[in-house]
Amino acid sequence: MKKSVFAAAVVASFVASNIAKAEPQAEVLHWWTSGGEAKSVAVLQKEFADNGGTWTDMPVAGGGGDAAMTALRARVLSGNAPTAVQLKGPAIQEWYEEGVLADISAVAEEKGWDTVLPASIAGHMKCEGSWCAAPVNVHRVDWIWANADVLEANGIAMPNTWDEFNAAADKLQAAGVIPLAHGGQAWQDATVFEAVALGLGGPEFYQQALVDLDPAALQSDTMIAVFDQMRKLRGYVDGNFSGRDWNLATAMVMNGEAAFQIMGDWAKGEFLAAGKAPGEDFLCSSTPGNGYLYVVDSFAMFDVDGDDKKAGQNLLADLIMGPNFQEVFNLNKGSIPARTDVALDKFESCAHTSAADMAASSDEGSLLPSYAHGMALRGAQAGAITDVVTAHFNSDMSSADAVKMLADAVANSL
Ligand code: BGC
Repeated sequence: MKKSVFAAAVVASFVASNIAKAEPQAEVLHWWTSGGEAKSVAVLQKEFADNGGTWTDMPVAGGGGDAAMTALRARVLSGNAPTAVQLKGPAIQEWYEEGVLADISAVAEEKGWDTVLPASIAGHMKCEGSWCAAPVNVHRVDWIWANADVLEANGIAMPNTWDEFNAAADKLQAAGVIPLAHGGQAWQDATVFEAVALGLGGPEFYQQALVDLDPAALQSDTMIAVFDQMRKLRGYVDGNFSGRDWNLATAMVMNGEAAFQIMGDWAKGEFLAAGKAPGEDFLCSSTPGNGYLYVVDSFAMFDVDGDDKKAGQNLLADLIMGPNFQEVFNLNKGSIPARTDVALDKFESCAHTSAADMAASSDEGSLLPSYAHGMALRGAQAGAITDVVTAHFNSDMSSADAVKMLADAVANSL
């Protein structure tokens, strides 16, 4: 061994043993503050503490994570990045390009993450070949949740087409029930919009419009039909929807004030945390149409000083991908494990539907990243689309004007 190589090896093993001896510390930035979310993140906090770690919680409330991402930017700009951050999709790559992420390849390789993750999920977690994030789950976005009693009392079945949805909503409205529980926050509008786009346009259209940003698809008649349906949905929402948090909308379905909510399966985490049973108290089905819109929640580690923090990052990464954590966390969160080798025996029927549909859509090529939840596009493009979606939803803008504005906004964001 050459002298310098030998010296480097000695330093490396000294550093490794120091990190091993250091007491793991982690300041963790996340936006899991609703009932179901808090229960889920508590699983990680407990495992971290059980393994000798000290967790400093940095929750930033706000569904979809917009506020958390603003807080993150401020911290990184002031040179004081949190140890671990709930971060996903292209945002991981964006932060990597800023040169501020830590490399967690040592843990990932030692634990063989590549062998237990689907290639598509592993791809989101790697930055130029090295591991830069650890995945906790797979959430599905394109779901409709319903209050079982309300549907039964009104002689309504879960809708299989958007026309059926509209007919059910008209009937409910006539009966004095709020058809659609919705919170008027931009990310919630975007959540509904992408489910409608997938449903009315199909997977290929979704890919062209909201992943590839093809100008023809963005201005197509199909996109006009999508905005028409958004206008219809606006009419099914109650007058107090503005600014309402998503979990309060879920509560409206739970208590029978509203019939449906279109939301990712973190909403199921709320139903389950409140002791509600699928098939009895609440119903789940994918929104009308084909395909599957996925979100993979993950944690990225930021470059920080201190052996205790580095030890915390390694421990967190290891725990996040642990089979036990992936089971317990996802039972609470409403999602399914990212690892393919975790049995779903303890999961309820909606999770089984999610797993089966994910496998089928992966085979058919209709497994698609959610744009609304930061899996498909970079921040600037996703933001440009959401601004138009929300401007349309909250005004009397025509669908024709909306598609024009959409194409312009996307073009300007590139
Ligand atoms: C995240 C979920 C979270 C939801 C609501 C989504 O973007 O992927 O983990 O529960 O936002 O906050």
